[in-house]
Amino acid sequence: MLIICVLKKELIIIYNSNEYNLISLELLSSYLNTRYLGRNYLYFDTIDSTNLKAKTLLKANNSHLTNGTLLISEEQTAGRGRLDRSWHCSKSSGLLFTIVLHTNIETIHLPKITLIVAASICITLKKFDVDAKIKWPNDIFINHKKICGVLTEMSTNSKRINSLIIGIGLNVNTIKTDFPEDLKDIASSLSAEYGHHFSRELILAEILNNFEELFEDFSQNLSLENTIEICKNNSAVLNREVFLINRGIYEEVLVKDLSSDGELVVEKKDGSIIKVSSGEISLKFKNN
Ligand code: BTN
Repeated sequence: MLIICVLKKELIIIYNSNEYNLISLELLSSYLNTRYLGRNYLYFDTIDSTNLKAKTLLKANNSHLTNGTLLISEEQTAGRGRLDRSWHCSKSSGLLFTIVLHTNIETIHLPKITLIVAASICITLKKFDVDAKIKWPNDIFINHKKICGVLTEMSTNSKRINSLIIGIGLNVNTIKTDFPEDLKDIASSLSAEYGHHFSRELILAEILNNFEELFEDFSQNLSLENTIEICKNNSAVLNREVFLINRGIYEEVLVKDLSSDGELVVEKKDGSIIKVSSGEISLKFKNN
């Protein structure tokens, strides 16, 4: 149900948050200015996981998965995050999607792709006046709460990436009460933080537009310059004390910089400076 009120000659549209507003693929296409990203799509009402689906179709050599295919679902029953975590989002309230790219880039570059995605999401949100921060390597935060995560996977052929499977979960209009109890204090959504509804189609199209541009810069010229600049200017971790977590072991470090290759430059407690690549490492804030 859509409630429309007219107050003092101003039209106010109030969305009933329990009502599903399905993604309009027509609207989405009209906002796209990409060459190949999102031009082919697979839309699902419900699915286990868009990343899982993409991998299954890739394994089966499914011809529908052309370069830039977008798999998008209103809901996931087994959404997955990095390091085997799960990803929850109530139906039609967020963006749950996977981009498939056929490439020939070297596998060592995989962590850079996650940064390119994070940078694309960050500049997209800035366009909507959202003060988004990147928590290296794959999270987007607003007001110290996570609103978005990126899960980048690949299918390889020895040293080369055949296909990139890039999964993104973004909480757009999710209401606070819809978050699982254990996430209520650490996760949020755009609408919960900004107090108004956001267009999922517009945000998704902008992410795809920005991502294609930054990705092309990298795949054509191996240039990460713009991505690194965006990540540095909007970093949630630069100059902060954090814990690096590697296979359950916590190490307290100070984040000094982001290298031109996208590695985190940190100072250890003994004063030594090291570079860390995302891989199996995750990062936890020391203080919020
Ligand atoms: C993380 O924060 O660890 C990454 C979360 C990625 C979630 C998205 S939702 C769409 C795609 N399908 C999945 O199963 N996972 C990704």
